[in-house]
Amino acid sequence: MASPPVHRNSLPFPKSSVKDLSESTNLTSVPSNYAFPPQDNISTDPVISQKIPTIDFSLLTSATPDQRSQIVCDLGRACREWGFFMLINHGVEKSVRERMLDTCRAFFDLLEAEKREYIGKHVLDPIRYGTSFNPAAEKAMYWRDYLKVIVHPVFHSADKPAGFREASLEYCTKIREVAKELLRGISESLGLEDCYIDKALQLEAGLQILVANLYPNCPQPELAMGMPPHSDHGLLTILMQNEVGGFQLQHKGKWVHVDPLPNSFLVNTGDHMEILSNGMYKSVLHRAVVNNKSTRISIGIAHGPSLDATVAPAPQLVDNENHPPAYRGMKYRDYIDIQQNNQLNGKSCLDLVRTLNV
Ligand code: OGA
Ligand code: NI
Repeated sequence: MASPPVHRNSLPFPKSSVKDLSESTNLTSVPSNYAFPPQDNISTDPVISQKIPTIDFSLLTSATPDQRSQIVCDLGRACREWGFFMLINHGVEKSVRERMLDTCRAFFDLLEAEKREYIGKHVLDPIRYGTSFNPAAEKAMYWRDYLKVIVHPVFHSADKPAGFREASLEYCTKIREVAKELLRGISESLGLEDCYIDKALQLEAGLQILVANLYPNCPQPELAMGMPPHSDHGLLTILMQNEVGGFQLQHKGKWVHVDPLPNSFLVNTGDHMEILSNGMYKSVLHRAVVNNKSTRISIGIAHGPSLDATVAPAPQLVDNENHPPAYRGMKYRDYIDIQQNNQLNGKSCLDLVRTLNV
């Protein structure tokens, strides 16, 4: 017998968004369901400040052959040593970036009832408003509200607030061009043809997701967390933030605090880049911390393979003697499904497809 249809909006959802909670009067401490037990508490980790690599995008697009080989080499080093870099001179106009940030902020400023129209269940629902990270599998709630929209291969948009569709279409289209160019450079940096990633992972139909994160100010930031340590499942994520810091990444076993650099994007390689590169470029853990002064907003645009592409290490990077394949191939759609199914006890699906430690 067929199971009864589940109404999209009937799913359990915490009573309050973090935004409403933080705006409630007299909030001087975090509610107990947002406080992490001491052993999981981020305030016990030492955090260092270190400069992460900077990549000048303009050199990739308008360089002489010599300059291009230099920038491809720098890009390769950044991916190999950090899995992260700051991107400057990317050509995405300030007005386009500001409009996107303002529009996402306006989304979170909608009435809670209006936002709740977009509560989704499955990771591949085209539009999903939510709070925390993955509430079904968590010990405590994360101090974060979010909106996720699939914007490619089919463009979707929330129809509120006014202007969201236009702002996100323009921003995501421009960011996609930046991502494609970076992926050409990254292909070359791996010694592959510049169009290798594009062709092998069918990027014409590649999954592109807009993720807007809101981290309201928090009365006890030392007890709460914005987002847990995680890696991104796609190939390349391009993140823009307002002027409020909170981003940390793991480097050589230490947490590194990354201050937002005005007008730049923070770019990182994801799980599928690790698989494709046979472990040369790692998918690095990162997280978000909160503060008690100002609301932080970040907008990440994740770029992945086509959902129907099977991703495996590039054959050119594999030889059975010195570099055996360290990951088995899997369809991107299946990978996302497994990642979402909460059967991984906090591990990444990457651990499941990894066959060797490299
Ligand atoms: C993400 C992410 C970090 C941030 O959305 O995957 O890592 O600072 N965001 O919001
Ligand atoms: Ni992330």
